[in-house]
Amino acid sequence: DRRIKIAPSILSADFANFGQEIRAIEAEGADWVHVDVMDGHFVPNLTFGPPAVKAFRPHVTSFMDVHLMIAPVDPYIEAYAEAGADMITAHVEAGPHPHRTLQAIRATGKKAGISLNPGTPAEAVEYLLDLCDMVLVMTVNPGFGGQKFIHSQLDKIARLRAMIGDRPVHIQVDGGVDPGTAPLVAKAGADVLVAGSAVFRGGSVADPGVYGKNIRAI
Ligand code: DX5
Ligand code: ZN
Repeated sequence: DRRIKIAPSILSADFANFGQEIRAIEAEGADWVHVDVMDGHFVPNLTFGPPAVKAFRPHVTSFMDVHLMIAPVDPYIEAYAEAGADMITAHVEAGPHPHRTLQAIRATGKKAGISLNPGTPAEAVEYLLDLCDMVLVMTVNPGFGGQKFIHSQLDKIARLRAMIGDRPVHIQVDGGVDPGTAPLVAKAGADVLVAGSAVFRGGSVADPGVYGKNIRAI
């Protein structure tokens, strides 16, 4: 299914009201729920451990996509699988054996994604395409919401789409996606668009209609 899907990142949600925020974005048209896991080591920020993800799970009726920005990643895969992730995405830069990491994710029965930082070339994941369900192209340096889109990544998206060929592999884009950049990434070949600030800005659980307007604008 290559229709464009919008995956709001709850990194930009109200941290005191995750359950309500998740239900609100789903009611307003979110296709997936994107959860950004940060370890203060692979990226300079800290977010959600497995117990937090487990607490989100009952509120998600769509598809919970867990983006692990952590290194090492292998020791935590089972914990995030048990917490209820539908897809687990690890970074190709997170360790010396990304092939093993994807095998470990698949072994949990979950969908598997592999992510590239802006400085990592498309070729780094070429040999992994038969072992994953999604490639995530970071269009900002991971760690924070609200950063500026890095345009040089458009060419990488197009190269990956060509490399993927007819394999059933999604291309997800994460970072600086808004109504201005979304058409560019879709044209380059991305089909799952993560957006944090562009979805949550101006809205709240008290006024969730704004989320719907923001999602439709992307
Ligand atoms: C960045 C995270 C993103 C972030 C995107 O490290 O992986 O998911 O929340 O936020 P925006 O859409 O505001 O750039
Ligand atoms: Zn993310």
